[in-house]
Amino acid sequence: MPEPLFSIRQSGQVYFGPEFASGQGDERRHYWFQSVCRVAASAKKDLESPLTILEIGSYTGFSACSWYASARSLRLSPQIVCVDPWRPYFNSRQTAAQGPYRQMNAALGSGEAYELFNHNIRCIGAEGSVLPVRKPFSEALETIGASKFDIIFIDGSHMYSDVLFDIQQSLPLVKSSGIICGDDLELSWDKVPLSVLSTPDLLDFDTYIDAKAGIAFHPGVSKAVWETLGPVCSHTGFWLKSSKWSDCACSDVFTIPWRPPHVAKVVLLVREAVGDYNILFFDDSYVAVPMSAGRVTPENIFNVKGAKLGSSFQAVLSKIT
Ligand SMILES: C[S@@+](CC[C@H](N)C(=O)[O-])C[C@H]1O[C@@H](n2cnc3c(N)ncnc32)[C@H](O)[C@@H]1O
Repeated sequence: MPEPLFSIRQSGQVYFGPEFASGQGDERRHYWFQSVCRVAASAKKDLESPLTILEIGSYTGFSACSWYASARSLRLSPQIVCVDPWRPYFNSRQTAAQGPYRQMNAALGSGEAYELFNHNIRCIGAEGSVLPVRKPFSEALETIGASKFDIIFIDGSHMYSDVLFDIQQSLPLVKSSGIICGDDLELSWDKVPLSVLSTPDLLDFDTYIDAKAGIAFHPGVSKAVWETLGPVCSHTGFWLKSSKWSDCACSDVFTIPWRPPHVAKVVLLVREAVGDYNILFFDDSYVAVPMSAGRVTPENIFNVKGAKLGSSFQAVLSKIT
């Protein structure tokens, strides 16, 4: 067994660090999973039945572990189907462009990504609740196509045609009271500047970075989400849609963050520009910080002049409005 994986297994702890680029994506997005579980569970007709979650694209299990921890924190019983072929999928143009893609392809090709997924799922105690289906979603549909899920989380290949397929084929699998959601929607397609839209081969980029325009986004996700679902609710790149909700219910989800224990503690901007304040979340506390305060970090957040602290979003809101 290769050295990094051997040490990780010896540790008996979940691992989402730099090896294999296994700490995938922006951890702040995981802070919303518990709220999604709460809302999906409360809409269920049979409250005793498990909360069923389909994840498309699991890699080394970062988000799968967060779904599990988030559901368990509410004393729900999750059943999570993780669909991923765990095979290299980035083309040579992408691997040449960005290091993590090379790293991911290598870990997927060697089988280490799948081994680490299983290790992480075991360490978090989720083996009995997680069913890995080692196939592309198109082939997994034969196995799971008759199931219905409370939550479907889409985080597979970010190429436009793949995201389009994943959303289109997922829609019939979401319960009528369920939620479809996904990762990596940093910019809604209708907000992409014209100058960027005219970039040759824009949809061939997994991530498109335009330092001049200050833009980094996943064009395939933006376009496919827009074409299939139209406007969706999103926060920090995590998007969701429910046929049952108004936008207002969405914004309720995005006011109650929760950090799964294996996810790093970061300062999360919950709501921008409420009067003269930004409302932030850090270490289980809500903090309203004057917008004039400058950069807020874990080190200074509780000492910012004029900041108001609260144990809930509403509590802190009532102090500034
Ligand atoms: C961005 S990573 C997923 C990250 C993961 N959700 C996490 O939090 O660590 C994308 C994953 O999608 C998988 N993938 C690629 N094509 C797929 C397909 N057709 N069906 C399902 N998964 C696919 C890749 O193997 C890769 O593991």
